[in-house]
Amino acid sequence: MKSYSIAVIGGDGTGPEVIREAVKVLDAAAHKFNFKLNYTDYDFGGERFLRTQEVLPDSAAEELRKYPAILLGAIGHPQVKPGILEKGILLRLRFELEQYINLRPVKLYDERFCPLKDKKPADIDFVVVRENNEGLYTGAGGFVFKGTPHEVAVQESINTRRGVERCVRFAFDYARRRRAGQPWHGLKPEDVAAGKKAQLTLCGKTNVLTYAFDLWERTFHAVGQKDYPDIKRDYAHVDATTMWFVKNPEWFDVIVTDNMFGDIITDLGAMIQGGMGIAAGGNLNPQGTSMFEPIGGSAPKYTGLNVINPLAAICAGQMMLDFLGENAAATAIETAVIDIVRTKLNSLAAGKMGYSTTQVGDLVAATV
Ligand code: IPM
Ligand code: MN
Repeated sequence: MKSYSIAVIGGDGTGPEVIREAVKVLDAAAHKFNFKLNYTDYDFGGERFLRTQEVLPDSAAEELRKYPAILLGAIGHPQVKPGILEKGILLRLRFELEQYINLRPVKLYDERFCPLKDKKPADIDFVVVRENNEGLYTGAGGFVFKGTPHEVAVQESINTRRGVERCVRFAFDYARRRRAGQPWHGLKPEDVAAGKKAQLTLCGKTNVLTYAFDLWERTFHAVGQKDYPDIKRDYAHVDATTMWFVKNPEWFDVIVTDNMFGDIITDLGAMIQGGMGIAAGGNLNPQGTSMFEPIGGSAPKYTGLNVINPLAAICAGQMMLDFLGENAAATAIETAVIDIVRTKLNSLAAGKMGYSTTQVGDLVAATV
């Protein structure tokens, strides 16, 4: 029987509760599809930091490198100053494990949970490929004359040809794989006639960030023209992208963007797909260790109440199985989630689902 070693970081707040439900569902899928998941727990997070004053042991990345995948609950503790855990655990692992892609699907499962008027599941079904190792997140910059009236603060966006190109290539490949069957329904007849199968939108700011997004734009078109003639290339400024997420989300198939813009637009994406209760993402190193997480935070005020929605964590687990190659099991989880969302839940928000955290996990596990 095939088996996979999975590192589990429940983390802070409601993280451990939602991860428990994800593991329940993953085990149900593994049982049905005849493979095994062996979990190893790691206690990284705010509680450990408060106890030991160590954010992340230096050996952590080396140790985690042994696993093909990590399942992460949430990072962020009300008694720890913002930034310490986020930078010291989440961002450090994303960087040290070279998880250079942050894959964030935006998919509406039930129109009842969409805040946009008249939008249906067919209208909201796109994927954001966020660059995850560069841009404004590298920590490059500094202060001069800190604390004086002459203070200067610099925060630089780092964009390398290698980093941009591997991200853009991943996005093109992903768009191609996603539409391996039917061409995307949003393509115009002339695009389909010209052999296009999918669309990749570069989301940038070429009119202002004339160095960074110039590199992105040149790389995007050079790579696309040479190696991906079957993918339609599209461009949108980041501000216009947010406008269209609200007005015409059906215009998007796959989007590729830098780290900061990707961070911002995927919170909006999460809202139009039904909220943080359902939004999941994967920090991918296609050659190494990837890390899957619900994209919402640790929700301290709901901790321990058994009211938080575990579906985002369950969907993170689903993405993990897909990435590990257990595609049928991943599809079974997604189908079960859709079924429970459509037929059982009153809401995707904490405390309003009509079921507890553990009951939602039980329902999905039983449906897989
Ligand atoms: C996210 C989060 C993180 C980010 C924070 C917690 C550092 O907002 O995963 O989107 O900015 O990437
Ligand atoms: Mn974010």
